[in-house]
Amino acid sequence: MGVSKQVLPLGNPFRSIAGIYDAMSILISFGLIGMWRKRVARMLAVGTGEVALDLGTGTADFAIELTRVSAVGARIIGIDLTPEMLVQARRKVYLQGLGTRIELRVGNGEQLDLPDNSVDLCCSSFLVRTLTDLEQGLQEMWRVVRPGGRLVCLEVSHPPQPILRALFHGYFYNCAPLFGALLGQNLSAYQYFPQSLRAFPDAPQLKALMEKYGWKDVRFHYLTGGVVALHIATKKGSAT
Ligand SMILES: C[S@@+](CC[C@H](N)C(=O)[O-])C[C@H]1O[C@@H](n2cnc3c(N)ncnc32)[C@H](O)[C@@H]1O
Repeated sequence: MGVSKQVLPLGNPFRSIAGIYDAMSILISFGLIGMWRKRVARMLAVGTGEVALDLGTGTADFAIELTRVSAVGARIIGIDLTPEMLVQARRKVYLQGLGTRIELRVGNGEQLDLPDNSVDLCCSSFLVRTLTDLEQGLQEMWRVVRPGGRLVCLEVSHPPQPILRALFHGYFYNCAPLFGALLGQNLSAYQYFPQSLRAFPDAPQLKALMEKYGWKDVRFHYLTGGVVALHIATKKGSAT
């Protein structure tokens, strides 16, 4: 299966919207984003001595949620391409007294500065749709997860029910840029979000793509009618 690569005509949109990202996410999702992240974090609960990578950590809300439900001895690494998003993340992590439990780094999920087989869990919340090269990202995630480790991706998806799908597409493709404008920010930066979903595979296609890059036992669950999908997979043995 070939997946078209995202082209960012406007550069990295997260640079200009970092300051309003949290407010925008709540607005666009009608407040559901916090519930989705919490639900997934509760399923993961990282144990003492384990290392979890939160890829595309952004302003660190998912990493913080994960830390709350994990053992004190768990290590959470949050990596993000956009330094401006990490500025917001660092402030939040510091204010919540989690500085010793969450390590934040600038990095590229398509070319990770981490050794092979070095993390127990690679998770991401609303990252994979924004990768420039999704296939490269899935291979990199596979490389850094240890055999027996897990991959967990929470992402906006395409609802399987045709009417809901049409309604959701209509909403997401038209309203997100308007919300950006409402908050008085760069409207063009938010044009990227509808584009990112148009080019993004649906949940069964994403599952097939994960399998293509060596992920096993791949399964997915729709949340809120499939507006969002959660993919879970395991790394077994060596690369295929
Ligand atoms: C939609 S935000 C999600 C942020 C956060 N995980 C959340 O739950 O709100 C996507 C994030 O992925 C980051 N990102 C995009 N491409 C990336 C890449 N190749 N490597 C690492 N981070 C990336 C962006 O900078 C942005 O912070």
